[in-house]
Amino acid sequence: MSGSRKIYLGTNTKMYKNIRQTVDFVTRLETLTKDIPRDGLELFVIPSYTTLAAARKSVPETDILIGAQNMCWEDQGQFTGEISPLMLEEVGVNLVMIGHSERRHVFRENDAEENRKVLAALKHGFVPLLCVGETGEEKEYGIAEEVIRTQLKVGFRGVPAEQAGKVMVAYEPVWAIGVNGKPASEDYAEKIHALIHRTLAEQFGREQGEKIPVLYGGSVNDGNAEKLIVMPHIDGLFIGRSAWDADHFNSIIRKVMPLFFQKSGTEGD
Ligand code: PGA
Repeated sequence: MSGSRKIYLGTNTKMYKNIRQTVDFVTRLETLTKDIPRDGLELFVIPSYTTLAAARKSVPETDILIGAQNMCWEDQGQFTGEISPLMLEEVGVNLVMIGHSERRHVFRENDAEENRKVLAALKHGFVPLLCVGETGEEKEYGIAEEVIRTQLKVGFRGVPAEQAGKVMVAYEPVWAIGVNGKPASEDYAEKIHALIHRTLAEQFGREQGEKIPVLYGGSVNDGNAEKLIVMPHIDGLFIGRSAWDADHFNSIIRKVMPLFFQKSGTEGD
């Protein structure tokens, strides 16, 4: 979605932060960012399940979207340990992350399952945030592009073009995520983002495909956020560790926003 007028910035707090810590975090983030017009910024936080209801109640959804880290594709049934879309609806969740690399690689989820979740999320009115990305080994074999195209083609299978405007994509190379991750260079990230945009245009048609924001994630920090956000095909940043302190996240937001709008040739207000 190069040239887009809206920047997408969000964080997944993984299996960190209890209810009190999550509420403190979103409340502080809301206070710090209150002055930023939301027509130019989509800000979201994806905390753990047990904190969702409290997080949703503590800040208005016009300021911060709250997302779940995963979801079952069925509404109810014999699925011990799973969380249904109806349960997420009940707590007022806006967005559902699907196929985070830890879900795919630690918990062995596959593309067909991610697809069922994407379709269920859309059916229930959530924004599905589909995460894609190759492992270090796949990159070495030279099949990163094939892997990512497969994740997109299977993940979004059956999504009608008119619903494309409701989905989001995060490109998170597995080798770049977490404490042992090595951030992707801005040139590498740009190359893959361009491929993702091309694939989405192929899947949904140019006009609808262009509406899908593609965020970069994987060891985004103070030092690389600015270099990444100026790349033409990067529509936002999906940040882990460097965003878990609200003041630090706010300072990244303030740094990247003007650069993003310079790139888009718009003011953002
Ligand atoms: P990180 O996490 O920024 O801590 O590498 C990114 C993610 O897993 O979404």
